Amino acid sequence: MALFKKKKIQSIGDSQYLTLREERKIAKENAKITKAYEKRKNRTKVPESEYLTEMRDPKNVVEFDNLHTYFYTDVGVSKAVNGVSFDIPEGSIVGVVGESGCGKSVTSLSLMQLVQAPQGQIVEGQIRYKATNGKCYDIAKMPRNEMLHIRGKEISMIFQEPMTSLNPVFTIGAQLDEVVLLHEPGTTKEQAKARSLEMLKLVGIAMCEKVYDSYPHELSGGMRQRVMIAMSLSCNPRLIIADEPTTALDVTIQAQILDLLRDLRHKIQGSIMLITHDLGVIAEMADYVVVMYAGRIVEKGTVREIFHTPKHPYTIGLMKSKPSVNKLVERLYSIPGQVPNPINMPKHCYYKNRCEMCQECCEGDFPELMQFSETHFAACHLYRDNKDLVIYDSLTTGAESEKAEVAHE
Ligand SMILES: Nc1ncnc2c1ncn2[C@@H]1O[C@H](COP(=O)(O)OP(=O)(O)O)[C@@H](O)[C@H]1O
Ligand code: SF4
Ligand SMILES: [Mg+2]
Repeated sequence: MALFKKKKIQSIGDSQYLTLREERKIAKENAKITKAYEKRKNRTKVPESEYLTEMRDPKNVVEFDNLHTYFYTDVGVSKAVNGVSFDIPEGSIVGVVGESGCGKSVTSLSLMQLVQAPQGQIVEGQIRYKATNGKCYDIAKMPRNEMLHIRGKEISMIFQEPMTSLNPVFTIGAQLDEVVLLHEPGTTKEQAKARSLEMLKLVGIAMCEKVYDSYPHELSGGMRQRVMIAMSLSCNPRLIIADEPTTALDVTIQAQILDLLRDLRHKIQGSIMLITHDLGVIAEMADYVVVMYAGRIVEKGTVREIFHTPKHPYTIGLMKSKPSVNKLVERLYSIPGQVPNPINMPKHCYYKNRCEMCQECCEGDFPELMQFSETHFAACHLYRDNKDLVIYDSLTTGAESEKAEVAHE
């Protein structure tokens, strides 16, 4: 009987057990907390002054400031995003990189107010956004109904899997027109169709009239992703979030989609937040790089800084695990271990149990981000006494380093 009363759960390190009673207690407490958050978000007629704020730097479109997004689950609080701060400057591509489960998607979903509710909630921090009307909003405090004017219109998103993002029972045209009709009131059906066809042309689709009348299943994966990109462009967004836009596509199509995104950035004069686990993609595309690990930023800087003078052992591990054409290796490096479960995270450096550079100085609390240049930051105890310490020679980073050089020269 006791067997049925206890449920095994996974946690970092040792296994833990929660009795049904404990689980019910957690669920009850979670319901109370999340209900309060939901009530706040669902308010209507909230004075604008409650969520108006000021940008720290007027050249930025978005500023994440100490963002904390938690999931209140039955087995405990999962700190998926745990104090993330970075900026997205106007007209730039910011790459967010890290292994699966590091909190990249949850960071972007927080910006869109699309975190799975009620269990997922932004509990602390600001997401400052400079809107087209010149005002600056704190998206973390914005009520749900106000966010409808920004989501899809000013900030749009391209998801990883185009087949599941498109509705299989509507034609491509109907789905494209809907975006324009919804966000630009007063547009006639003819105008919406003309705009949709223009967008399909812009993303390099030949015979756009035919594609306009097709259903998603009639298109290839690459075509569907182009349609998703066309959809995200139809309202001239200031910011496009691309969450692993090429992961579900084969290699040749990946290159085409990346070229397309790079071209579009000049055409729309907007910014792109590019989420990926592939450092090669980052080297080719991004201006700034943010490296995330277990819900925190471990390193950030310009693409040159990250590829030429990487500081954090995790960034270096990611670079070493990338295959390179001009490096002969017997066996490709892989970082030992896994990303820890974000429930009950330890106080010390989260990377400690996987880090090959771990030393006595790593015993302390989680390292604060240290500044190495105006734009370069890393969170590692190794540099506490010597910021000039070199633990990785950029010459051995191989192809990525060269690509970063070429792409940004
Ligand atoms: N709906 C959810 N409920 C509970 N935990 C979630 C949920 N969505 C994401 N998480 C947790 O948040 C963490 C970060 O996830 P995610 O941002 O999707 O990672 P990735 O870096 O791969 O995009 C993961 O540990 C995941 O388990
Ligand atoms: S603080 Fe120590 S354990 Fe953490 S990444 Fe730096 S060297 Fe490794
Ligand atoms: Mg993800």
